[in-house]
Amino acid sequence: MSGLDQIVKKLTEDTMLADDELAAILETNECDNTLAEAADGKRREIYGTDVYIRGLIEFTNHCKNNCYYCGIRRDNAQLSRYRLSGGEILSCCDTGYELGFRTFVMQGGEDPFYDDDEMCKIIHTIKDKYPDCALTLSIGEKSYKSYKMYFDAGADRYLLRHETADSGHYRQLHPQSMSLENRKECLMNLKSIGFQTGSGFMVGSPYQKTEYLIDDLRFLRELEPEMIGIGPYITHQNTPFKDFKSGSLELTLRLISIIRLMFPYALIPATTALGSIAPNGRELGLKAGANVVMPNLSPVTVRKQYSLYDNKICTGEEAAECRGCLENRVKNAGFQIVVARGDVKKCSVTLT
Ligand code: SAM
Ligand code: FES
Repeated sequence: MSGLDQIVKKLTEDTMLADDELAAILETNECDNTLAEAADGKRREIYGTDVYIRGLIEFTNHCKNNCYYCGIRRDNAQLSRYRLSGGEILSCCDTGYELGFRTFVMQGGEDPFYDDDEMCKIIHTIKDKYPDCALTLSIGEKSYKSYKMYFDAGADRYLLRHETADSGHYRQLHPQSMSLENRKECLMNLKSIGFQTGSGFMVGSPYQKTEYLIDDLRFLRELEPEMIGIGPYITHQNTPFKDFKSGSLELTLRLISIIRLMFPYALIPATTALGSIAPNGRELGLKAGANVVMPNLSPVTVRKQYSLYDNKICTGEEAAECRGCLENRVKNAGFQIVVARGDVKKCSVTLT
């Protein structure tokens, strides 16, 4: 057995590696197939071939933040901005429920228009009508008090990528008004309140190095999130990073496999960004160890305006088309979509 194969075997058995071993498998494509096979096996042990779907509702593209990589950042004056009303959001859920979605994800920029009372009103309305569904929020950094209010109103899960666990790198990606410290504190608060919590990062973001990726994996180990979302960084023409190149399919798939082996129980999406850099990116993501897909439920009229990066897929299709297209893709990759909330199967594995 080669040295690299031995490292993959160790990761599969122990769920952890030393820094130099992680660096060795991150920096070569030689063990990508072995990694993907091991990750696929691990996912099958816990989740079988089930793939969970999340109906994504991109309900506002207003944002008070100015992340250098993000197409809906405050200073992108080229973008026409929109907000969905509570009624419009509920109507996306109605369509989604009919299509078999049992998790709705409300994602948006950090938009003060939706204050805590407004958010809680919307959460209550959705949960009252669909008590059998999980509601996930992805609306950025808020106070402990706000998170607690959302949780008490009925929200079940929260997605907040840490983006990078290296504070110097964090500073290269975000303006002074934001800090890694606050991001981490938000994540710890979400966990302690009781949310199923998701974190993650972009692969190939500007200035990223192998050592930062290792820090990312170590931070995730500390946090032990239920959901881990990674996708390639993709350049957007109206951001300060317009001249940087996008992240690669290869490294993203490699990291999905490594993350599956480190966190066997985790809910890991094959992201829209992965599908946007390669036509079969999401299928490859599933084969590399992912077990979640997040089709778009937003009204077609606003989809193009939620432009986080250039050439984002699925911006012209109706929800039903998206659902049908994904169903086929998942099936062709050897898996099946299930109608279920798709909660985490909590840790039957001891992490080292
Ligand atoms: N405002 C919320 C937040 O900050 O968590 C949710 C919306 S934010 C647009 C969701 C995620 O999109 C971010 O966590 C980031 O990783 C990802 N994203 C933003 N710009 C991107 C880009 N250019 N390429 C790939 N992913 C991007
Ligand atoms: Fe706020 Fe991207 S800068 S969502």
